[in-house]
This record gives sequence, C-alpha cells and structure tokens, in this order.
Amino acid sequence: KKLLTEDGFVDQGQLTYPFEERGLQFGDGIYEVIRVYNGKNYLIQEHVERLYRSAEAIKLVVPFQKDDMYRYLQELLEINDVKTDAKIYLQITRGSAPRDHAFPEQPKPNLYAYVKDLSRPSENLKTGVSAITQPDVRWDWCYIKSLNLLPNVLAKQTAREEGAFEAILHKDGEVTECSSSNAYFVKDGKVYTHPAKKNILHGCVRMRVEHFCKQLGIEFVEETFEIKDMEYADEMFLSSSTAEVMPIIKVDQQKIADGTPGEITRKLQHAYEEDAE
Ligand code: PDD
Repeated sequence: KKLLTEDGFVDQGQLTYPFEERGLQFGDGIYEVIRVYNGKNYLIQEHVERLYRSAEAIKLVVPFQKDDMYRYLQELLEINDVKTDAKIYLQITRGSAPRDHAFPEQPKPNLYAYVKDLSRPSENLKTGVSAITQPDVRWDWCYIKSLNLLPNVLAKQTAREEGAFEAILHKDGEVTECSSSNAYFVKDGKVYTHPAKKNILHGCVRMRVEHFCKQLGIEFVEETFEIKDMEYADEMFLSSSTAEVMPIIKVDQQKIADGTPGEITRKLQHAYEEDAE
C-alpha cells in the first residue's frame, strides 16, 4: 500500500512524524474525504476546490498546484490498483516545528493521502437510520474542513452510545448540520437545509443534492429549520461522501412521519446512484 506525501509516493509503513507536529499538537491542518466508486474518484473537483479554500482560510500553502493534486490523486488509485469502492483520506498540516501557537517562520506543510476499501452502506440506505439531537458547540468557521474535530467526535460518540447513527447539531434549537454530514428536512414537497454560511461545512454531496433537486423539479430551500419542526416533518435525510443520501427515520426516539424512508429521499437516492455510476 502506497501513500501520497508532499515528497511523492511512499510505502505506508515508511511514514513517521516527529512528536512536535502541528496537526497532532494543535489540530493545525485541514482534510478531505473523497469517495471512490469502481476505482474512480467521485466529485473530485468539488473536493479539491474545497481543500484549497480551507487552506486559504487558515493561511496554509498546499504543497502542490491544483493540476498536480488532481494528477496525484488519480495516481494514488492506480498505484494501489483500486478497482472497487473505496475512500481517500487526505490531510495537510502546517508541519513539524517546536511547539509555539504562532506559525513557524518557514512552515513546511506535511501532507498525506491514503486510500482504503469502503463498501456502500446498502442496508442503512434501504432501511434508514436513527439520529439524536445535540447542541452545536463548535466554532463559527465550520466551512473550513479543519482537523479540530473534538466537538464532532463527542457528538458522534454520544449518538453511538445511544444506538443512533448520527447526531443532529443545533444552535438554540436551529439545526445546523450533523456531526459528519449535512441535514435536510422535507415538508410539503420542499427540501429544506441550513444555508451554506460559514457555520456549516459546504458538503460536496450537499451541492449535488441541490443539483438533483433542480433536475427533478423539487424546490431546494436554504432556510434553517428547528428541532421542534421535526415533529411534523414529512421526511428527513442526511448526506455525506460516506453516508451518501441517507434517510433519517427516527430522531430522539420519535418517528419521522410513519418511520420509513420518504418518497423525495428515495428519488434523491436514485439520482445519486445514477450520478455515481
Ligand atoms: N465528513 N458536515 C460535516 C461536519 C462533515 O464532516 C462532512 C463530511 C459533511 C459532508 O460533506 P461531504 O458531502 O463533502 O462529504 C458535512 C467526512 C465524510 C468525514 O469527516 O469523514
């Protein structure tokens, strides 16, 4: 198995870091999770664009030009002979330097990307999943795909302990997104989701969902909805590169509508499958 690094491809076992590494000590870095279907990168442009936006937002210089990034991510799949469903994890930190909150004078970012087999969550996609609600205690710049994931980790762990798939995050009752996915609410044939402001991650699949809605003549409304609205939701779903378009059938033990995946969710799942093929 080969990894992509800022210095080219290396064997996975070869990668070592000094203990003073800014990703480890400060979470001073950014990342992407890219879906691979049948050995091909899905939504690669959206992911690469977002990676460079995140980098710029934290004043980090990506070690490669965009063109090279596309080429290397393609090579990563070829070198590892990926032919099936997988995911790429890529992270870039501000590098290794003596611990100091301020940037090192001449930062040398550390980058690595690896690819790992990942099958589609077929059973959950069919039956739908349950979620719990949790306060969104994150910072104001969640559009940056930062390595600082402690609030997300804690929210997801609480969900796991309660037997749920995801944690739906809210600020004073207004739903922002989930711990590692975007959240949607369907009412009277319209799909509602939090506007793509700075306080949520602008999901690549979310962008696709907007596009599918347009194609299907479904109104896509970027308006916040509240925890209390879920009581009369017709449908709910979430989206991410790993969960795809996932029906939510229960929130905090309460069924959403009749507790089965809804019709619009099914249509969007179908559109996703055709797109990812
Ligand atoms: N998470 N919101 C948050 C907080 C996320 O972490 C993610 C992705 C998304 C969905 O983004 P996208 O559609 O681009 O995958 C929304 C990845 C999968 C992760 O951290 O593993």
